[in-house]
Amino acid sequence: MTETIALTPERLEKAKEIIARYPEGKQKSALLPILHLAQEQHGWVSPETMDFVADLLSIQPVEVYEVATFYTMFHLEPVGKHVIEYCRTGPCCTMGGEEVYAHLKDKLGIEAGETTQDGLFTVKEVECLAACGWGPCFQIREKYYMHLTNDKVDEIIEELSK
Ligand code: FES
Repeated sequence: MTETIALTPERLEKAKEIIARYPEGKQKSALLPILHLAQEQHGWVSPETMDFVADLLSIQPVEVYEVATFYTMFHLEPVGKHVIEYCRTGPCCTMGGEEVYAHLKDKLGIEAGETTQDGLFTVKEVECLAACGWGPCFQIREKYYMHLTNDKVDEIIEELSK
């Protein structure tokens, strides 16, 4: 695999800049930002992409796999245009999350881990998003949606479906 298959020249340049921030022999420290770059480009991180990242950092592929599979922010299979990551942890659930998330899944006609047929939405369950006082909540990319209600979910889905 050539480098440009896994990252565009621009992203590869950025990856090299990130790697250069760390001392020789500590390239592994750049793993998280480089996985983000790869996911930004492909929408998910395939095994081939993880192998490429391992090569780039001169580390073992398993070292990439163990990080990518630990963090739910990395998608290990193709996902929809909008990935809705809802917090299933206790505080959000006691503030009405279970009902709101059930409404979300009903509305989209999918379960957690699935993507709508039109490829617009994927729903994922994640642990605490560190917004416990503002739950129930979900995250779509860098944006948080908080104090969710069924009506708010309807508005958000409508807006993102345009
Ligand atoms: Fe949901 Fe912390 S419990 S954000």
